[in-house]
Formats: sequence, C-alpha cells, structure tokens
Amino acid sequence: MQLNIAVLEGDGIGPEVVTQSIKCLRSVEETFGHSFTFRKAPVGATAIEKHGNPLPKKTLEICKDSDAIIFGAIGAPEYDGNPNAKIWPEQGLLKLRKELGLFANIRPVKVFPALIKQSPLAKSVVQHTDLVIYRELSGGIYYGDKSTDEASNSATDTCTYTESEISRITHLAFKAAKGRRKKLTLVDKANVLETSRLWRRIVQEISKSYPEVTLNSLFIDNAAVQMILNPTQFDVILTDNMFGDILSDQGSVIAGSIGLLPSASVGNDYAMFEPIHGSYPDAKDKNIANPIASILSVAMLLQHFKMDEESDAVVAAVLKSFSKKIVTPDIMGSSKYGTNYVGDFIADNIMELDGSFKMNDENIDLGNSTII
Ligand code: IPM
Ligand code: MG
Repeated sequence: MQLNIAVLEGDGIGPEVVTQSIKCLRSVEETFGHSFTFRKAPVGATAIEKHGNPLPKKTLEICKDSDAIIFGAIGAPEYDGNPNAKIWPEQGLLKLRKELGLFANIRPVKVFPALIKQSPLAKSVVQHTDLVIYRELSGGIYYGDKSTDEASNSATDTCTYTESEISRITHLAFKAAKGRRKKLTLVDKANVLETSRLWRRIVQEISKSYPEVTLNSLFIDNAAVQMILNPTQFDVILTDNMFGDILSDQGSVIAGSIGLLPSASVGNDYAMFEPIHGSYPDAKDKNIANPIASILSVAMLLQHFKMDEESDAVVAAVLKSFSKKIVTPDIMGSSKYGTNYVGDFIADNIMELDGSFKMNDENIDLGNSTII
C-alpha cells in the first residue's frame, strides 16, 4: 500500500517520540513491502515561534493533501503560565481537528500484563481492563461561543451539540461495541446539562438499531469513580469532548503510565494518530520520554488502513520490549534505556517475525516508578 503521511511533531517530547514511530513504520514498509512517504510540518509553540501561527496555512494544506497524519504533542510552559496570551499552541490542534472534520477520538485503555505493577491501583482491580473511549472531538464546550468581558471581568464558554454531531459518533461507538463485548456506556451529566439530556435522547433512540448491544448511562462524576473502582465493567464508553478528555487521562492511570496510551482521531475524510499525553517539556531532549503511546498510535494507523497483520507486528514488538525490559525509566526507574534505544528495539523486532511473534508476557512484571 502507498500512503502519504503528514508528520506534525509539535512541541516538547513530540519530535523524539514521533521519530520512533517513523522508524517503526519504515520497518513495516520494508518487511511488508509498502511505500510510505513522510512530510513534516510545524504546529503548536514551534509554529508560533517560526510563523506566528500555531497552525500555519501550509501545515493545514499538507495535512489535507495526505492520507493520514501523525501528531506528536502540543503545549509549552511559557503559554500555560500566561492566561493573557492572545495566541497559544493548543489553538493549533483544535483548529486542525475542526478543519479536518475529526469528530471521533478513539482512545483504548488496556492493561498490559507485564506492566500491571505499574498501576497505582491494585492488580485485582485493573487486571483484564480492556475498554475504549469514544470521545466526541469537534463540538461541545471546546468549540462553543466564547467571550471575555473585561469591564465586568467575566468570561463565558458555551456548550452546544446538534443531533448530527451526536449521532455520527454514536453510530461509530455502537458499531465498535458490536464487534467487541457488546456493551456501551454513555457518560454525561444529564441531571444538570441540557446538552447531556439531548445526548441521552439521541443515543437511546439510536440504540434501537443495535439490539445486540446493551446500553447503560452514567453521570460523569459516578463514571470517574467507577472507572477506578471497577474498570473491567466497561467495554465502550461514549462521551462528549470535555468529559472524554478528562476520563481518558484518568484511564492512563489504570494502564500505569500516560506514556502508554495511543489514540486515533477520525472523520469522514481524514484520520490523525496521536498519543493522549502532552508535551512533557521537562523531558524534552533528555532521551527519557516513553515512545510507546506514539508507536501504538501508528499501530492504530495501520489498523485504520486494514493492515491488520502489520499492526499486530508492531504491537507484538512492543510486547517484546516489555518482556525483555527494554523500557524507558517511567516504566522501570532503574532502566538504562532511552527513547531512541526503545524505538530501535521495537523497529528491529517488527522485522523479525519469528516464533516470538505472538509472545505471552503474562509472567513478566516490571518495577514500579513514577508516572509522567
Ligand atoms: C488531548 C489534549 C488536548 C485536548 C489539548 C492539548 C488541547 O489534552 O488531546 O487530550 O484537550 O483535547
Ligand atoms: Mg487531554
């Protein structure tokens, strides 16, 4: 298969982790006889510095001219600490999602047996967790009218959802549930918010077309608790933009490190693949950032283009890195391996489709350490 891929490395650790993903895709290309071309373009703080714009026109053009986009990370401390800034990096990502019509953000949360000790939660609670969050990505409070009234020193953000915005992601989530354990949980705040009441009505109506899937609903505050108390009760979680942002970060605690969780953002015309983590500026250029979230994001890219065997080979190589303890220090404090080494190991092992291909890492535990 021939794919043109736009590469938006972004800020902080973005460039380092994306470099490892590209190594893996090069390895897939060679092993399976595909042809991938990569075109880099600036976004975020890096783009503000160079072009005064977090999403330069040229970057958007390159994305629109590509089959897929790999995104690194966005954000820089100088903007986080300055609420008076008129331009900031994250605006670039939000505009990109909107312009490309990326309305569904798919965020799987899985516990890898080898990393089970990593989770601050008890093994008995987190083991066998395998859920996926369908987060609405191009509507809601992120994109509603916003204003600040300097005179009264007040500010407003509006949350609006339309039926079509809700129904298109709801269908995707039901289809996903149908192919999994057939359970869909809608997470909202329907005891308070009008938009949540609309979500409930529309999702309940659509559920009639998917009789094999069981639908239940939880309020976000309860869902946050349930996810920590008993994450294995969830299969597919469907939720709005803001709740999905928060719940998916919480999901990373279950998995053991935010450096592990990938995501795919899809629409009718484009697809973008990005880790759920941020730009982790303190780790920039230190060769300590965990590349797994980015590498698993390209496994999702391969799956998106129906290259299942290729995607499985990437995941198998990642599992092998866990089994061999070739991991970054966020996973094992004593690890002497850096971002680059882990990336090289995984890329090399994609090529070696030998007996270790479907390896079982059930009996390997890696040590506890800090979570980035
Ligand atoms: C995410 C991030 C973004 C979001 C930020 C960087 C704008 O937190 O992808 O989860 O809130 O969507
Ligand atoms: Mg987030």
